[in-house]
Amino acid sequence: MDAKRIAECLCGVLADTYVLQLKSQNYHWNVVGMNFHSLHAMFEEQYAELALAIDGIAEQLRNLGGLAPATMAEYLALTRLSEGDSSLGATQMVGDLLESHEAVLARVHECAHVADEEDDESTEDLMTQRMNAHRKTIWMLRATLGHGEAGLPPAPKPAKDGKPAKAPKAKKKSPKAVG
Ligand SMILES: [Fe+2]
Repeated sequence: MDAKRIAECLCGVLADTYVLQLKSQNYHWNVVGMNFHSLHAMFEEQYAELALAIDGIAEQLRNLGGLAPATMAEYLALTRLSEGDSSLGATQMVGDLLESHEAVLARVHECAHVADEEDDESTEDLMTQRMNAHRKTIWMLRATLGHGEAGLPPAPKPAKDGKPAKAPKAKKKSPKAVG
């Protein structure tokens, strides 16, 4: 088992989860509009769930012998997410959280695949728990946006060799006009 390889992917998951927790907290504090109360409460549930997850991911890293990155500078260097934008409208905040959870789900899926290849059942179990949590949140955010497709995103199907299928791709933001 290559513990260093697993620790590297866990560092990425930790950074993404931390940045997403702060983004959820940002939107909990700064959301405005007629749906203020329900969104304020939903974002709080989400950041609280992520905060618990962060501790488990960091402690799994320590279990593997790695140091847990624990500064904002490290998280910003490791994350694939953008930071929250407190000037967004309520619907844009929900959309941004949806895209972010989809991106973290994809990264957790990659890490589950690495853990599987390295025969690290405990990291694989933790990543499965995280995938389930992100899938549930994605369903709630999609339902909030009134997407007709609202429903749990499909579980990754195991391929013939027993390995998980490729990670679902995060939705890309529409390209911004240049110039
Ligand atoms: Fe609060």
